[in-house]
Amino acid sequence: MIRMMQSKNEVMTFVKKSPAPSANENIIVLCKQNSPLSGFGLSAEEISFVKNEFEKKEKKTVILNQLKRMVALQLLEKKAKEYITLETLRKAGDKIAAYLNDAKAETVVIVDSAGDASATLALAEGMALGTYQFIRYKTKEADKIKNKLNTIYINSKKVNIKDIERLQITIDAVREARTLVNEPVSTLNAVQLAKEFQRMGKEAGFKVTVFDKSKIESLKMGGLLAVNKGSIDPPTFTVMEWKPARHKNKKPIVLVGKGVVYDTGGLSLKPTPNSMDYMKCDMAGSAAVGGAMYAIAKAKLPVHVIGLVPATDNRPGGNAYAPGDVIRMYDGQMVEMLNADAEGRMILADALSYAKEYSPELVIDLATLTGAAAAAIGSFGIVAMGTAGENAKNKLKNSGNSTYERLAEFPFWDEYDELIKSDIADMKNMGGPYGGAITAGKFLARFIDYPWMHFDIAGPAFLQARDSYRGKGGTGIGVRLLFDFFKKY
Ligand code: BES
Ligand code: ZN
Ligand code: ZN
Repeated sequence: MIRMMQSKNEVMTFVKKSPAPSANENIIVLCKQNSPLSGFGLSAEEISFVKNEFEKKEKKTVILNQLKRMVALQLLEKKAKEYITLETLRKAGDKIAAYLNDAKAETVVIVDSAGDASATLALAEGMALGTYQFIRYKTKEADKIKNKLNTIYINSKKVNIKDIERLQITIDAVREARTLVNEPVSTLNAVQLAKEFQRMGKEAGFKVTVFDKSKIESLKMGGLLAVNKGSIDPPTFTVMEWKPARHKNKKPIVLVGKGVVYDTGGLSLKPTPNSMDYMKCDMAGSAAVGGAMYAIAKAKLPVHVIGLVPATDNRPGGNAYAPGDVIRMYDGQMVEMLNADAEGRMILADALSYAKEYSPELVIDLATLTGAAAAAIGSFGIVAMGTAGENAKNKLKNSGNSTYERLAEFPFWDEYDELIKSDIADMKNMGGPYGGAITAGKFLARFIDYPWMHFDIAGPAFLQARDSYRGKGGTGIGVRLLFDFFKKY
């Protein structure tokens, strides 16, 4: 087996604070409608061209190739909501970055002529995230060097060093998560996933403990072990902890991530096209948890956070768990397993029960749990549900908007719970033909006794086509939302 490489060539984009740019540096001027365009090295002819593009043609981005350098002018336009303005700028940043990367530019200075810190940072964020590339398996030099943009300088009176540090951390953490998702199962099985978390823990400064198969057996994590039965590779259960001396929360907040390193559907085998062919992404929830822990620890946020990742592949091996099996879960409840492809809830249930040991203030799980969630809202947001109080829910929704990793809250009525009743056990692992994302959530709710939110990221975790700065393939969804939530905690 090939060891997963630890090269960081996926995104090498650094964000740094800079003095005013010199005359031959690539620049992006963030300006308002009436900002003067003098002082940026534009000729009178260029200035009138730009003005015409902005005013008559209603363009928001104008790019000039001055041969010795590129000049981009980005109009800052206030939308109905601040978070929509910021998202527009991230997308503009991605477009400008694509132009610079096409031109093999390596550096650029963003000049904040609008005097707006969050707008400047959003532009830089979109550029950096859009420059991500997963190229470790490209052997041709020409493919490898596709994106050369490696440093984005920011020249702004309003943006401070801490903002820039945190943006850098965000970019690094999203890169970590995306790369984990993009890595196939042949190089990232459950054991290797746990090793990656250990590496990330070392780098960022959080504690990582990995339970191996014998420990998982002694704990009697029946859900995780059942899914692992068809596999040759052993399961892992990773516990990550960030507990700085000074932390604001008395009780920890626990993050739980689905770590199915590959989902064949097990004996309830998935078809290949548009289904099994991208199921290396089924550990995206765990990548979000690892990425969030990485960001929180790097930024040394004053919060006590624990990350739990149950991990295995789901395969139809000789001893695979079979529809009809009854399984004793970690907390002692019995589950009638009727579909081997509903494996995520089996492993998450054990992790959610395990989380009770911490008497947590709040637990958030992230999982590529159901095709139903993706069918309901596509890739444009996260399906959310749970028992947390309004205050926590609103904070999470706000962070969802700020980062544009938006939450769509689904109903969580008692009636859905009826749909997972079993004739012979405490519950079954699938509901009826409708409301599949919610019945999956109701299954998880049988294993909690604390305020809890469930984020089903099956839609946005992995994109089949490039979508602006979110890229193609693993998006790292959840990392930015969680980091924002804890920054504002
Ligand atoms: N990993 C899948 C869900 C998924 C679908 C993730 C699309 C990413 C994109 C999950 O394990 C699954 O197969 N769920 C089943 C549940 C059903 C059998 C009750 C589903 O959604 O079909
Ligand atoms: Zn499945
Ligand atoms: Zn799955």
